[in-house]
Amino acid sequence: MRVLSLLSLTLAVVGVTPATAQTAATTNVADGSLTIYQNLGRLNVTVSLYQLLQNINLLDLRNLLNNTSNRYTFLAPSNEALQGVQPLDWNALLRYHILATSALAANLSASYQLESTLLYDTAQAQLPSYQEGQAIVFRPNQTAGAGGVTLTGGSVGTDVSIIQTDLRASNGIIQIIDRVLEIPAKASLVAPRIADITTATALLNQAGLFPRLEQARGLTLFVPNNAALSKLDIILDGATMTPTRPSLNTSQLADLLSFHALVDQTVLYSTRIQDTIQVQTLEEGSLILNRSASNDIYVNNVKVVRADILLANGVMHIIDGVLDPSRAVQKPSGSTAEVASSAGSPAYPQLVVANLLGLVALAVLYL
Ligand SMILES: *[C@@H]1O[C@H](CO)[C@@H](O)[C@H](O)[C@H]1NC(C)=O
Ligand SMILES: *[C@@H]1O[C@H](CO)[C@@H](O)[C@H](O)[C@H]1NC(C)=O
Ligand SMILES: *[C@@H]1O[C@H](CO)[C@@H](O)[C@H](O)[C@H]1NC(C)=O
Ligand SMILES: *[C@@H]1O[C@H](CO)[C@@H](O)[C@H](O)[C@H]1NC(C)=O
Ligand SMILES: *[C@@H]1O[C@H](CO)[C@@H](O)[C@H](O)[C@H]1NC(C)=O
Ligand SMILES: *[C@@H]1O[C@H](CO)[C@@H](O)[C@H](O)[C@H]1NC(C)=O
Ligand SMILES: *[C@@H]1O[C@H](CO)[C@@H](O)[C@H](O)[C@H]1NC(C)=O
Repeated sequence: MRVLSLLSLTLAVVGVTPATAQTAATTNVADGSLTIYQNLGRLNVTVSLYQLLQNINLLDLRNLLNNTSNRYTFLAPSNEALQGVQPLDWNALLRYHILATSALAANLSASYQLESTLLYDTAQAQLPSYQEGQAIVFRPNQTAGAGGVTLTGGSVGTDVSIIQTDLRASNGIIQIIDRVLEIPAKASLVAPRIADITTATALLNQAGLFPRLEQARGLTLFVPNNAALSKLDIILDGATMTPTRPSLNTSQLADLLSFHALVDQTVLYSTRIQDTIQVQTLEEGSLILNRSASNDIYVNNVKVVRADILLANGVMHIIDGVLDPSRAVQKPSGSTAEVASSAGSPAYPQLVVANLLGLVALAVLYL
């Protein structure tokens, strides 16, 4: 019996006895007069999940899913989805599968959107407001037909699909999903998993910046891709400087990278960047964010090439240029395409800034 073997596997993992479970599990149809929790106990596809919820440590979650005062959407992992999953904290992981509103698949698949979950204020999510839950990205999946939607949580590149939609309960909606969503991790763990930002990741490590970024309650981090940084070819502390390559010491490098970070403020998921806005960076100076007619997002005229990589405390966007703090937006200049190459000791020697629309865009330069 397939169901039985799944069941015993789950029981072994959470250490509960079958005696505590009173599952009927004889149907594929939800009963709208019963709660989400009660329906989980009736549906064949959620036998494992229901058994899991019998865990003594999940009492609050059980009560929440059985409480008729609020309405939720439970993105419920199927029996297959739960196989082999062994998180440190089931309560946090399952809360990351509950949306604070009741949403039909048609609504979730209507447009690219980020939805807030009930995972907030824990060791695993540090967003600016205690009421703001960690997010999940939803995007329409035409291949899957009408109502088709792909979900992405914290796991880079792991897509999750809704395989049974709109099971209506008295206190919300159950959407059955084919994989467990991963809770977004810290920046220092996420960044190394992305192939085209290995240079920026190494520089962030060298600058010792990750701890500062990770302690922020709310982080928006713009990360230049490898192509953008290869044009800079920064030489770090102590290396022999040649006239054509910028040499930075560690604190200058940290300043440069800090100009790419917004901390302790509203997390700017791409969906929150609709109009042109100006934001303050961790380094002195501010950035201008906007959305073009073709729906691309720009930061100081540098394009976001991959948006909304979720982090424990915010979001990361990959950009195809480097933002230059020596040309912060408060000081828009004329139309010269020349830099801080004049007198004194410029903070970023050899960087040539192309001045677009009076804003900053670093164009380049290493000969
Ligand atoms: C639910 O699973 C049981 C076996 O555990 C099976 O007998 C029953 O037919 C299934 N019900 C539906 C509606 O698929
Ligand atoms: C769940 O809620 C229903 C309706 O309020 C109630 O009858 C039932 O006893 C509750 N079940 C549990 C396990 O709390
Ligand atoms: C249900 O939720 C409401 C609102 O959050 C709360 O006031 C109430 O105590 C809860 N009921 C139970 C039985 O937990
Ligand atoms: C959700 O979808 C339904 C049916 O497609 C639609 O009538 C309703 O306006 C949508 N609600 C939201 C909040 O988008
Ligand atoms: C879109 O849906 C199809 C069909 O269900 C599925 O095979 C595919 O993996 C989905 N694509 C993504 C990106 O999730
Ligand atoms: C880095 O270089 C700048 C400019 O030369 C200098 O002011 C600063 O003291 C240096 N910092 C360190 C830690 O060496
Ligand atoms: C946003 O920035 C891009 C790149 O500089 C520019 O082409 C576009 O016109 C800007 N859009 C708005 C609405 O300002």
